Amino acid sequence: MISKITVRKVSRVKVADFRALYMDAGWWRDEYDSETAFINKAVKGSFCFVGAFDRGRMIGMGRALSDGCSDAYIQDVTVLKKYRGLGVGRRIIEEMIRILRNSGVDWIALVSEPDSIGFHRRNGFRKMPGHQPMKFEGVDPNGAKLRGANSPR
Ligand SMILES: CC(C)(COP(=O)(O)OP(=O)(O)OC[C@H]1O[C@@H](n2cnc3c(N)ncnc32)[C@H](O)[C@@H]1OP(=O)(O)O)[C@@H](O)C(=O)NCCC(=O)NCCS
Repeated sequence: MISKITVRKVSRVKVADFRALYMDAGWWRDEYDSETAFINKAVKGSFCFVGAFDRGRMIGMGRALSDGCSDAYIQDVTVLKKYRGLGVGRRIIEEMIRILRNSGVDWIALVSEPDSIGFHRRNGFRKMPGHQPMKFEGVDPNGAKLRGANSPR
């Protein structure tokens, strides 16, 4: 199965594929069904969005937010349960690192979910001593309801 899977940067995705991946990861919320436009906005707004494909269906994904010259944050790396443990997640990370490095980006970080620390360690990521990931939970200066950080989650 793994030999047929291709991994590549994409500029748009099928909403159904993205939804299935987010569902499988437990990241999909009911309200997203009425605002799916954020999906391809997130793809286009990412420095790179990498998908893993099995016969045209996206079965894994990951994206990097970056200035394209020095720093990047990787997020939303996920693989459909059925395809886990086959090296797909690693290939997605490797492709993003390759693209970032080719652009001169040499500071690459991510915030790991607790269950994925071992996976990220195997891919070369290490805890940053003395640092703590933080997310904005304060008051929106415009008074509008906040959805969270710059991720749809
Ligand atoms: C984390 C995830 C993307 C890994 O994808 P995957 O395709 O199963 O991973 P791979 O098969 O490429 O694994 C690469 C290596 O990491 C190891 N690994 C995979 N998941 C791991 C985990 N959760 N903990 C520890 N090691 C893990 C594999 O055993 C393999 O090790 P090896 O180098 O000895 O062969 C996948 O489990 C997933 O989609 N999880 C749900 C979403 C999620 O939590 N994403 C992370 C957000 S921070």
